[in-house]
Amino acid sequence: MEKPVALPPLRAVLFDAYGTLFDVYSVGLLAEQLFPGKGEALAALWRDKQIEYTRLVTMAAPGGERYRPFWEITRDGLRYACKRLGLALGAEAESRLMNQYRALSAFPENREVLQALKDLGIPRAILSNGDPAMLDVAVRSAGLHEVLDHVISVEPLRVFKPDMRVYALGLSVLRQAQPGLAAKNVLFVSSNGWDAAGAAWFGFTTFWLNRAGLPREELHVAPAVEGRNLHELLALFGLGEAGA
Ligand code: LAC
Repeated sequence: MEKPVALPPLRAVLFDAYGTLFDVYSVGLLAEQLFPGKGEALAALWRDKQIEYTRLVTMAAPGGERYRPFWEITRDGLRYACKRLGLALGAEAESRLMNQYRALSAFPENREVLQALKDLGIPRAILSNGDPAMLDVAVRSAGLHEVLDHVISVEPLRVFKPDMRVYALGLSVLRQAQPGLAAKNVLFVSSNGWDAAGAAWFGFTTFWLNRAGLPREELHVAPAVEGRNLHELLALFGLGEAGA
């Protein structure tokens, strides 16, 4: 992890969900079983289409008129990705893949890191494109509900990240317990480079969880800190060693 240069005091942490706390590419294993030789390509294209559709409905209708819950958009992305790759997706395979998405595995270090932040008295919340029902199942099946103060969905806004109103919603929920909390005093954690960029544009201090060792986005905004796993975040709170 890079040594952070003089970060503002961090008084709360917001986490992205899919890809950050929950391993979205774990569906690739089932996809590979169902479509041998194509699992990785399917998982990657599925994720790309899912995110593309969230952006399209938000851009086309910033008032939320084209909003569809993330669960439905996820299914649409799966259907398109299969068609594009020439894979015959029957009802059974679709339902197995969607159920796999519902029960995504969480990255192993999550619980310990969230617990350590809780012990420090740092508020912790998810801020996600996911709809409340799917987030609830994912959080509970990963046993994270006890270590999170809030699970915040974009649903009431009917727009998706990186619409700035989503990041503002996250801040406003944290302000219920910490009135006057400034955006820069919130650490926003995401494995998605584009989401970290959106959060930095909003004014959050960002931790890009670059699990895959990807290059930085060419978006003319840098994360305040870049790390390879969630443990590295603890160094920002005076726990553990950077890179340990
Ligand atoms: C989310 C997606 C972007 O959880 O990962 O919001």
